[in-house]
Amino acid sequence: MFVNNIHYRTIWPSSTCRNVSIIDQTKLPFHFKVVEVGSVDKMVHAISTMQVRGAPLIGVSAAYGVALAMLQDTSDARLSIVAKQLIQSRPTAVNLAWAVNRIIVHLTATLPAVRVSAAWEEAARIADEDVKQNQMIGQHGLALIQQTQQSGLNETFNILTHCNAGWLATVDYGTALSPIYAAHDAGLDVHVWVDETRPRNQGASLTAWELAQHGVPHTVISDNAGGHLMQQGQVDMVMVGADRVAANGDVCNKIGTYLKALAAHDNQIPFYAAVPSPTIDGGLAHGGDIVIEERHHDEVAYMQGHAEDGSLQRVRVMPKESKAANPAFDVTPAKLVTGIITEKGVFAPNKLT
Ligand code: MRU
Repeated sequence: MFVNNIHYRTIWPSSTCRNVSIIDQTKLPFHFKVVEVGSVDKMVHAISTMQVRGAPLIGVSAAYGVALAMLQDTSDARLSIVAKQLIQSRPTAVNLAWAVNRIIVHLTATLPAVRVSAAWEEAARIADEDVKQNQMIGQHGLALIQQTQQSGLNETFNILTHCNAGWLATVDYGTALSPIYAAHDAGLDVHVWVDETRPRNQGASLTAWELAQHGVPHTVISDNAGGHLMQQGQVDMVMVGADRVAANGDVCNKIGTYLKALAAHDNQIPFYAAVPSPTIDGGLAHGGDIVIEERHHDEVAYMQGHAEDGSLQRVRVMPKESKAANPAFDVTPAKLVTGIITEKGVFAPNKLT
C-alpha cells in the first residue's frame, strides 16, 4: 500500500527484532500514526482496542505477539499462557487462532534455545504469505469483474463494499479491495459505494481513506442506503471480506453484511466474499456455531470525529437512559453468496472443501 506515495505494510518488525511497528487504525483517517509495540501485553491491547484490526492482520499481529513473548521466556509454560491470552483478545476471526496455533506448533517442535529466532521467522513467513494470498485474490477478482462487466449495462462498474477489507485489514493489498485496486490499476472504470459501517465506521474512516490514497473513485453512503441503490440499478456487484467462513460456505463478516446480502439476492446482484484460505474454518460445519463478539455498548452510544477546529471529539448520540447492544459480526447464509474468492480461484460456497 502507498500512503502519501510511500510504500508501507500495516505491520513490520524492527531490524533488531525487539519490537513491531503498527499503524494505529483508531487514529485514521485524521492522523497517520505509527506505534511501536514492544511486548505481548501491548500486542493484546492493540488487538482488543482495534489499533490493529481485520481478520488477516490480527492473525499476523498475534504471531508477532508470540515472537515478542519469546524475548522474555521461551518455556513451554509461557507458550501456552501467551497462546490463550492472544486467542481470547478477539473471538470471531478464525485467522487469529489459526496463526497462533501455527506458530505454537512450530515452536513446540523447536528447542527452547532457538525459539526466539524461530518465532520471528515464522511470524514473518505468515505475514509474507498473507501478502501473496491477497495479491492472488486481486487477480482472480479482477477476472471476475471483467467477466461481470461485459454482461452489465452500466459503463462504470459499481461495487458496494462493507466495513474495511482492504490494505488495513491485512498486511497488504486487502481481500475485498484487492480486486478493486487491480481493476483500477488495469484501467477499468470502477466506482465503490462504501458503507459507513456503524458503529465503528471502518468504511467511512478506513476504506474511504485507503481508496482516496490510491485514487479509486468512491462514495461513502449511510449503512441504510445500499438496498435503495441496488433497486435503482446502481450496484453491479457486492464484494466483502470475512472473518470466518464455515465449511458449508456460510460467511461471517462485520455486522450488517447479512442485510446487504439479502438486498443483493432480492435484486439479482452478485454477492462475493474475498478471503485468504486461513479464513476458511474447514472444521466448522456451518456458521451458526460461530462466537459473535459483543463489543462495548459505548461504541453504539458515542461517535468519534473531527471537529471544525481540528480536534478529535467523541459525542453521545442517544439518551443516557437508553441501553445499547453491540454485536460486531453476523452470518450470511451460503445460499445468499454467489461465490468465494480465494488465492486459489473463485469457488461456489458449497465447493470450498
Ligand atoms: O471488527 P473489524 O474491523 O476487525 O472487522 C473487520 C471485518 O469485518 C472485515 O470485513 C474482515 O475482517 C475481513 S478482513 C480482510
